[in-house]
Amino acid sequence: MKILGIESTCDETGVAVVEDGRKILSNIIASSVEIQKRYGGVVPEIAAREQIKAIIPTLNAALEGMTNQDLDLIAVSSGPGLVGSLLVGVETAKALSAAWKKPLVPINHLIAHLYACWADNSKNLPSWPAIGLIVSGGHTDLILMKNHGKYLWLGGTLDDAAGEAFDKVARILGLSYPGGPEIERIARNFKFQILNFKLPRPLINSDDFDFSFSGLKTAVYNLVRKTTLSNQEISAIAYEFQEAITDVLSFKTLRACADFGAKSIIIGGGVAANLRLRQKISSLAANKNLAVFFPPVNLSVDNGAMIAIAAYYDFKPKDIRLVKSQPNLYFA
Ligand code: KG4
Ligand code: ZN
Repeated sequence: MKILGIESTCDETGVAVVEDGRKILSNIIASSVEIQKRYGGVVPEIAAREQIKAIIPTLNAALEGMTNQDLDLIAVSSGPGLVGSLLVGVETAKALSAAWKKPLVPINHLIAHLYACWADNSKNLPSWPAIGLIVSGGHTDLILMKNHGKYLWLGGTLDDAAGEAFDKVARILGLSYPGGPEIERIARNFKFQILNFKLPRPLINSDDFDFSFSGLKTAVYNLVRKTTLSNQEISAIAYEFQEAITDVLSFKTLRACADFGAKSIIIGGGVAANLRLRQKISSLAANKNLAVFFPPVNLSVDNGAMIAIAAYYDFKPKDIRLVKSQPNLYFA
């Protein structure tokens, strides 16, 4: 079964074709991040206008060597996201569904981030129950996954999302957007001198699965606001900030695994690209015999392949027979 996946929730336009939920036949991503850099973050109006320019060329590139006859289903990211950006992908998908007479399914963008782990780079697949950690620019959530389509939200951020905290702290430190990769790069320059300060690990021991990162961001701001920092000091703060946020994310993920008897951990979202987070969760999980699944780094950021993969697992196979007879039915 070949599924066309369309993603347009924010500043990436992604279109992909995935076969049987794992084999990526094409995955094209256009991004307006270079334009957004000038503004230090995503400007929704600009993101939406760039989506309009990118959608058809991205679609054509993803379908190169194929025709619509090869496709069984169209899947589109239906939210959460910026409304102007979302409309571009959703309306394109609806038009294609009507013109090509293909069934259309809406996919939750956040759950799709977790499904990026099903891409064909790994032979193994997660066993249930699993704990899903979604860490993106706009969201931080812990999810109990009992099976495909059977999810229970355990907790999430009360204020800034993990990616948002990386982006805002990067801005405080004078680094460019997006902040996550910049903080990771600068933190590597810290050569383990003694740190003469410590940042908080908010809610690390709280009796719930919630997160809060705005106090951590303020703590960084209070450290830097009265002084001019040397490059070495900037890398020390970037290092300690990355340690603090990855400590909280990994500790609470492992606690959720213990509480719910999970067998696997599945991580998704842009912050899943962070190597320090990958190291910490992997080493904690190895001590507990838990399998850990990260998406390939290029599928950590927004892309169409994860939308197509999520559609395959959430709608197979009886649902697909149902939607095939009634195109557009599943679009709420
Ligand atoms: O999932 P994503 O591409 O878009 C949303 O759905 O929000 O995530 C983007 C976020 C940005 O905040 C970016 O700074 C963060 O992911 N990010 C990282 C890394 N790469 C991207 N954060 C930490 N370390 C990274 N290597
Ligand atoms: Zn995303």
